[in-house]
Amino acid sequence: MMQRGVLSADQRLWSSALKCSRSSSQLCKEKCFYITTPIFYVNAAPHLGHLYSAVIADCLHRWKLLQGFESRFATGTDEHGLKIQQAADAAGKDPLTFCTEVSQRFETLFSSCSVSFTDYIRTTEQRHRRAVEHFWSVLWHKGLIYKGSYEGWYSTQDESFLMPSQVGDALDPSGKEVKVSLESGHKVEWMKEENYMFRLSSFRSLLLDWLVKNPGAVQPERFHQAVLQWLQEDLPDLSVSRQRSRLQWGIPVPGDPEQTIYVWLDALVNYLTVVGYPEKHERWWHVAHHVIGKDILKFHAIYWPAFLLGAGLPLPQVIHVHSHWTVGGRKMSKSLGNVVDPFEHSQMFTNDGMRYFLLRQGVPDTDCDYTHDKVLKLLNAELADSLGGLLNRCTAPALNPAQVYPAFCSHSFPRDRRGRAVEEDYHMVETVRSLSTVVEKHYESMHVYKALEAISACVRQTNGFIQRHTPWKLDRRDSKDVRWLDTIIHLTLECLRVYGTLLQPVVPEISDRLLTRLGVQSQERSWKDLDFLGRYFGTDCSFEGRPLGSNCGLLFSRLETQSGDKQKTMKSKKPAQ
Ligand code: MSP
Repeated sequence: MMQRGVLSADQRLWSSALKCSRSSSQLCKEKCFYITTPIFYVNAAPHLGHLYSAVIADCLHRWKLLQGFESRFATGTDEHGLKIQQAADAAGKDPLTFCTEVSQRFETLFSSCSVSFTDYIRTTEQRHRRAVEHFWSVLWHKGLIYKGSYEGWYSTQDESFLMPSQVGDALDPSGKEVKVSLESGHKVEWMKEENYMFRLSSFRSLLLDWLVKNPGAVQPERFHQAVLQWLQEDLPDLSVSRQRSRLQWGIPVPGDPEQTIYVWLDALVNYLTVVGYPEKHERWWHVAHHVIGKDILKFHAIYWPAFLLGAGLPLPQVIHVHSHWTVGGRKMSKSLGNVVDPFEHSQMFTNDGMRYFLLRQGVPDTDCDYTHDKVLKLLNAELADSLGGLLNRCTAPALNPAQVYPAFCSHSFPRDRRGRAVEEDYHMVETVRSLSTVVEKHYESMHVYKALEAISACVRQTNGFIQRHTPWKLDRRDSKDVRWLDTIIHLTLECLRVYGTLLQPVVPEISDRLLTRLGVQSQERSWKDLDFLGRYFGTDCSFEGRPLGSNCGLLFSRLETQSGDKQKTMKSKKPAQ
């Protein structure tokens, strides 16, 4: 390969790439959305943290579909690099066979947990190799890659280069003194070799400019600030290849078979491969959103945007960052023996149960601790008792013998507040009416837990509404009582329809059961069908008078505690807070 001289940073080109990324939302008039998870390393089996990244992205994808967007959702596996090479060696398998086996485990896990990806990418695929080679060549021809030499610390476990300030001393399990990454705790080694360098240092001010002008580019804010902070420090050029003699398991540098492309450059390009780079990526690349864990922020919010700017491509719209799950207050690790197996736990708590817990308890800003007991209590309280109990109450033959969506009576629940409804009922109606707006705001900012908190609070209010009016005590021979009873049930079913519709991105199976039971057809479950309580607000209600759908059994069966005792049912208890 010919070596190119140092080009002066082509500021105009990069600035236009920046502008392009800024105006992409205006450019893409169609309602398109593209969301990705990180691609997962195949050196070990999937764990709970991996499922969490995937479930968040799935929730955002389903949310956009609900809103009527055309959405693509990519996930897959990151299969090159030294640590995969070493893991395959240790397993005594050839690398591709090893990667295929582990990659299939990820795919099986995601499919079984309703992670509805539209694209599954493996970096060992030919289409990806083509994309990486092309991407590399673009950077090379722009003079952004040069042959140099790297000397410094490297963590194979993180596949990351570290500055001396990021390295500390520690003892390994045998008591030997070793150097470790201060951030991840993984062992680092001193590395010195000839390789190719990317002119990362030229991009510092452009990256700062991008972040300052796009305050929502990295969310939540705390991670945006962290990236800004890193950019205040020195930003050295980045080594983007390894000598082939040390790393064979990877894509060779185009024109120089003695070098292998750095696994992070290789891996990041997967986001482009999926949407057809280099020929037909434009439509989707304009609306790219990445979901990532906090440990890989630097790669996504510094290296990746710099590579993209260098290649003249728009930057992602939003990088959504999430924090980590700990177990017993400690990082999950094989050596501590506290790794949570997502297969086992989603069987124990059901797929939707697992999804609900992760999204209800997971907070993007801070780490959360996972305990069996917490999962059990939350699911029993919110899914089995509160939501399931509410559905049961208004669809049970004892209260609803005709098994219909009964009529709403505006004399019983009049707008002038002179009927049988009380102040708290009007308050509930207003809260549920504004729920979709509240939920929209939280889903959009990946604060799914806040959306679920709001829905859960409404479910509690609706249970309170039923409890307050004790419809089972009304006299069925009195026509006024019957109209009031019907109104109570109508209003409760309307609330449940809204909850079921809004919960679809989080618990697709439960929502489906709920909406099916209410008789809501599949084409009536989208954002535009959320019109709540039309009969009260002066429009029609197409559900009034309809027969309920089939009864598919309990919405969510109560889970048994570890000791095997069934917890008490809700009747005697206040719904969970
Ligand atoms: N292969 C890279 C990503 C390349 S993307 C171009 C990688 N893979 S990973 O398998 O180590 O991690 C994948 C995702 O799982 C990351 O988002 C990471 O943050 C997430 N998690 C790993 N452990 C986690 C927890 N304990 N809790 C939550 N998420 C965690 O990094």
